[in-house]
Amino acid sequence: MFIKNAWYVAAWADEVSATPVARRILNEPVVLFRDERGSAAALLDMCCHRGAPLSCGKVVASGIECGYHGMVYAGDGACVHIPGQVHIPAKARVKSYPLVEKDTLLWIWLGDPAAADPSTIVDYPFHNDTAHWPHKHTLYPIEGSASLMVDNLMDLTHLGYVHVSTIGGYPQSHVDAIMDTQPTETGLKFTRWMLDSLAPPTYKKAVPALADRIDRWQEFEFVAPAVVLQWVGAIDAGTGAYDKGKRDGGFSMRIFHGLTPETETTCHYFWSTLNGFAPNDPQSTQKIFDEVSAAFREDQYIVQQQQMRLKELGEDALINIVADGARVHMRRVLERMLARETQVLA
Ligand code: FES
Ligand SMILES: [Fe+2]
Repeated sequence: MFIKNAWYVAAWADEVSATPVARRILNEPVVLFRDERGSAAALLDMCCHRGAPLSCGKVVASGIECGYHGMVYAGDGACVHIPGQVHIPAKARVKSYPLVEKDTLLWIWLGDPAAADPSTIVDYPFHNDTAHWPHKHTLYPIEGSASLMVDNLMDLTHLGYVHVSTIGGYPQSHVDAIMDTQPTETGLKFTRWMLDSLAPPTYKKAVPALADRIDRWQEFEFVAPAVVLQWVGAIDAGTGAYDKGKRDGGFSMRIFHGLTPETETTCHYFWSTLNGFAPNDPQSTQKIFDEVSAAFREDQYIVQQQQMRLKELGEDALINIVADGARVHMRRVLERMLARETQVLA
């Protein structure tokens, strides 16, 4: 079951140009395209004539043209041209989805269109602030559910095991981190402190002047149902990060995570890395993106393996441990959202 009355990332804005993009979202086949004026649109990827996917067609002046017999649809789903026919019946239309371009992302709403309020889309101004937070972004297709991927981000004790050679550090320092979890209006936020811990390889590569022992923070905000905002960093141990709120002069990076269900057991992982430690150095922006790319391949691997096993044997025999606090909280937020939506529908 999917939460449908919510905004999900459909694409990075720069993925969608004049060439139609076919993307399954919440198990619905969607076609994304950008018209000649530059506005992006999302339609059900099926022509109402004989059912050909519209993504097999092309973008023309008045909309998207079906690649089978040439019917054309505008961004609102209305058919505007039928070859060899003047009259266009009112029923000649396909479903269109609310789509909003914001902060370099395209956000889609697959639920009740009347409830789609763009002001509830997550704010992420950092994507536009290229002077202070230059970024790079991509999309990983994951053979695992969006919930398993959010689980992964809610329990960071995996860093010391999954990411030993990249962003990891000693497993024990992750387990021993000072953890503070707070509910928010839209989900939850947690902060973790690893004081006087060993600098992980990625941090040292990014900022060679960083001491071997660091005070390291990890701030994660889960915005239900499908976004996680991350800010991590470190400065030399004992120089005031924790007690004096000092954050400058060391390593600092933000990561945007958008986990959009494709099907019940697969998802689209939209993520970006934002360089806060050397914003004037494009090479650093590239390097940190490459490092995180490698780390997220490690997450992809373990989650895909996990999904494979869960598909085979189910979840009934699984247990929770202390490290699952934020994850369990997150799942409750989702359950409540789903229950509210099911009640409204009933
Ligand atoms: S199937 Fe699209 S025009 Fe015929
Ligand atoms: Fe990870």
